Amino acid sequence: MKRLTIPAIRKAKGKTPLVMLTAYTVRTAQLLDPHCDMLLVGDSLGQVIYGLPSTVPVTLEMMCAHGAAVVRGSYHAVVLIDMPFGSYEASPEQAFHSAARILKETGAAGVKLEGGEAMAPTIAFLSARGIPVMGHIGLTPQAVNQLGGYGARGRSEAERAKIIADAKAIDSAGAFAFVIEGVVEPIAVEITNSVSCPTIGIGASVHCDGQVLVAEDMLGLFDRTARFVKRYADMSGLIGDAAQKYAAEVRDRSFPTPDQTYAPKD
Ligand code: KIV
Ligand code: NA
Repeated sequence: MKRLTIPAIRKAKGKTPLVMLTAYTVRTAQLLDPHCDMLLVGDSLGQVIYGLPSTVPVTLEMMCAHGAAVVRGSYHAVVLIDMPFGSYEASPEQAFHSAARILKETGAAGVKLEGGEAMAPTIAFLSARGIPVMGHIGLTPQAVNQLGGYGARGRSEAERAKIIADAKAIDSAGAFAFVIEGVVEPIAVEITNSVSCPTIGIGASVHCDGQVLVAEDMLGLFDRTARFVKRYADMSGLIGDAAQKYAAEVRDRSFPTPDQTYAPKD
C-alpha cells in the first residue's frame, strides 16, 4: 500500500473526517498506522515520554530521534513532526533550517508549528520552499509561560477575534491543515467553515475536519489527562496487573517454568 500524501489530506476537507493520533515509538507507530491518516510525533513526548514539566524543554534531537522511529514503524499514514520550542520562532530562515533537518533526519512528510498571525510569514516561507506545514492555534502549549496554564481559550470577545484572525492568517499563508486545540466549540465550527484547509480538533468540535488525541491519553497510559480526552483502553491497568503477576511468580518461584528454560537436549 502506498503512503498517503499531503495533497490527499488537503483534499479530504468536506469529504471524509481525518484521523490523527500521536506516536513516539516504532511499536506504537506500527499498531496505530493502519487506522490513521496522519501520525503526529508531538512534542507532548516531553511530558509523556520524558517526564518534563511542559513541552518547552523539548529539543530538535529528541524530535528527530523519535520522528525517525515513527517513520520506520509506519507505511500508510502521513508522518508529521512537531517543531520544538526555540527551533523556529526567531525567523523564517531559522525555521527552514530546523525543518529541513527534521525532514532529512526522519523521512517525515511535513512539520507542525504553533502560532497564528505572527507565524504566518514563516509558514509561507517554508511552504514556498517545499516544506508542508501544519499549523496549531488556540491553546498552544509551548506558550504556557505566557498563557499561565492550559485552560480553554476563546471565552472573551477579544480572544475569540484573535483566534479567528490567527486561523485566517495561517490558512492564507499556506498551512496544509491546522490543529485547533482547547477552544470553545462555536469558534472551532466558525473557523472550520471559513478556511480552505482541513482543521484538526482536540478539545474543539466534532465538526472539525478531523480529530487528534495523544495516543497515551486515549490508551489510558498517561496519568494526567485533560477534559477533552476520551479513554478507549486501560493500558495502565493492564501493565500494572501484568507486573503484579510477574512479581508474585518470581517471589514464589513459579516463574520460569521448564517452558521458559533450556534443557541440555531438546
Ligand atoms: O504535541 C502534541 O501531541 C500535539 C497534539 C496534541 C496536537 O501537538
Ligand atoms: Na505539540
